[in-house]
Amino acid sequence: MQDDDDKIKNAEEKNGILGWIEYRLPIFSFLKHIASYQVPKNLNYAWNFGSLAGIALILQIITGIVLAMHYTPHVDHAFNSVERIMRDVSYGWLIRYTHAVGASLFFIVVYAHIMRGLYYGSYKKPREMVWFVGIFIFFAMMATAFMGYVLPWGQMSFWGATVITQLFSAIPIVGNKIVIWLWGGFSVENPTLNRFFALHYLLPFIIIALAMLHVIALHRFGSGNPSGVEIKSSKDTIPLYPYYIVKDCITFGLFLIVLFAFVFYAPNYLGHSDNYIEADPMTTPMHIVPEWYFLPFYAMLRSIPNKLIGVVTMFASIFVWFLLPWLDKSKVRSGAYRPVFKVFFWIFAVNFFLLGWLGGQEVKEPYITLSRFSTLYYFTYFAIILPLLSKYEKPKMLPKTLSDTVSEMK
Ligand code: HEM
Repeated sequence: MQDDDDKIKNAEEKNGILGWIEYRLPIFSFLKHIASYQVPKNLNYAWNFGSLAGIALILQIITGIVLAMHYTPHVDHAFNSVERIMRDVSYGWLIRYTHAVGASLFFIVVYAHIMRGLYYGSYKKPREMVWFVGIFIFFAMMATAFMGYVLPWGQMSFWGATVITQLFSAIPIVGNKIVIWLWGGFSVENPTLNRFFALHYLLPFIIIALAMLHVIALHRFGSGNPSGVEIKSSKDTIPLYPYYIVKDCITFGLFLIVLFAFVFYAPNYLGHSDNYIEADPMTTPMHIVPEWYFLPFYAMLRSIPNKLIGVVTMFASIFVWFLLPWLDKSKVRSGAYRPVFKVFFWIFAVNFFLLGWLGGQEVKEPYITLSRFSTLYYFTYFAIILPLLSKYEKPKMLPKTLSDTVSEMK
């Protein structure tokens, strides 16, 4: 007891108020611990997308909370409340456009983050849990974005919500009941809008919690790196601060430039003009399309004539990511040392873009056939190409240590 009192006195005398706080809540030593976290010294810019995703998430939450202060989640007022934000609320247009464009950029960053993982084999042992939690984050992001798009209560909000929720009716026996339960009524109506608003507010905080688990799992074994060779000695690493923190600031700066270029010069470029028409259950738009970031999955859904199989295919296209650690058994982690894998990976990446483009086209030939081939390649890549490459590909010689891939300044 006496000992404890002496320690408190010492800490307080040395560091004043900060020492007083630190002794009771060791927050400063925790920050010091994070700053000195050892990171492989050969990370390239592809490793910046994780921290950038974290910043994008915080930006969405801050702008979202301000929007919620002025938004009314009722079918009679929602559309007008958004118009009021745009016209009457001080800088409301800036907050709203930042939130809307920010959502798109958040998805671009996370897609790049996932592609990095696929190319560098980040899902492999021992980081499977980092990858799995990441997939849950992606699901949560899709749900959040989908519900957010319903809130302005424009034509695309209403009809997008109607089409997507009705997909659940494909489930045998209970499908229709599930749809009515999701709606809270017999169509997309006021209860639907209200619950979507509640969940759209809640889910980002769940994403924050998941992102924390993601980083805890990552810190268990430390970051991977572009060579795929694990850390062998302290010579292979440098502390997170200052080098990587400064490097993260560079991509954050670029992110802000792109974000505000869109916000100030083309704020509606990534949206759909029909959402400036108030929702009308009696008028169906000519062409119902979801937001661009759902389009690759939408293309897979539409490529299959049977509704149930289409829905299963769409969900399977993401669930298959869970199987990756077992589908890709190659001993070499990084795509940089796998010459044949590289070719198929880049075809996969182009094919994914193609699917995105096809998802925005009308349902007619040649788009239907093209979507079928693209969907086929998507699944073939995971289910057949990766297992075969794991077995038969001859990888390049790996460097002995990851430091061998870095040319150091003497
Ligand atoms: C809100 C979304 C996300 C945030 C904030 C986030 C954050 C991070 C951060 C800070 C890192 C460490 C830095 C880096 O390696 O880039 C990381 C690594 C990683 N993330 Fe994410 N992430 C998110 C989504 C995802 C998703 C959707 C996936 C996959 C489906 C994923 C898979 C991974 C993997 C496998 C690593 C380890 C990479 C390695 O060290 O080799 N993340 N994430």
